[in-house]
Amino acid sequence: MKTVLDFAKRKTSGEKIVMVTCYDTWSARIISETKVDVALVGDSASMVMHGHESTVLAEVEMMAYHVAAVKRGLSGKFLVADLPFLAHRKGTRYLMESIDKLMKAGAQAIKMEGADGMLDTIEYVVKSGVPVMGHLGLTPQSFHQLGGFRLQGAEEASAAQILKYSQQLEQAGVFSLVLEMVPAALAKSITETVGVPTIGIGAGVHTNGQVLVLQDLLGMSKDFEPKFLKKYLDGFGLISQALNQYSDEVRTGTFPSVKESY
Ligand code: KIV
Repeated sequence: MKTVLDFAKRKTSGEKIVMVTCYDTWSARIISETKVDVALVGDSASMVMHGHESTVLAEVEMMAYHVAAVKRGLSGKFLVADLPFLAHRKGTRYLMESIDKLMKAGAQAIKMEGADGMLDTIEYVVKSGVPVMGHLGLTPQSFHQLGGFRLQGAEEASAAQILKYSQQLEQAGVFSLVLEMVPAALAKSITETVGVPTIGIGAGVHTNGQVLVLQDLLGMSKDFEPKFLKKYLDGFGLISQALNQYSDEVRTGTFPSVKESY
């Protein structure tokens, strides 16, 4: 997928959108050679790449740095960047300067979490010529308020609220919508209600696409095993094995051999 128009086409054609997070050049180079459609420089970078406890610690400069690194390695894929914590609540000037930095670093669209009190802001950003991807359900930037990384919309009232927000976000002009950790039935009804494609993470099979954190699907973390995650590789095990083999061969003098020597 190359432009924002391709998202609308997928809603019509029914072909699923495949998105993964990406924070660096070498991952971007690999993604470029795969069937993945969209690279997301998520603010999860603050956790995955910087070891923070939450995405609250992500800064605009951090995000722009990762976007630029991804941009240098990515080709033929759509590139989305997260607007970090509170960047939309520090005044219009700060918001627009933040978006300016992310777009100039190479993003083609900005993902903004939440809807409550944000609809006018999102509309303003969209009308400024910046495509916005919405994000509802578990919005990790609010994890202190939500009491952790938990399922959202499990009760009737909260499900109805999330459905309403999804319609309001569509009216505000988002071109697509991430649904994170909501019941599959709620994701289904949102997907059937809104005209823009939905992209789920922990939201069941009925969304118009899926997104996962790259390092999660590659099994890079030994102990991270939420219900929604499928690990497609034992990255932790395979990389540890390679590093141990390298260590053993250095110690036994089998590396470097004549083949690797000048
Ligand atoms: O920051 C992120 O990685 C995300 C995805 C999980 C959707 O927002």
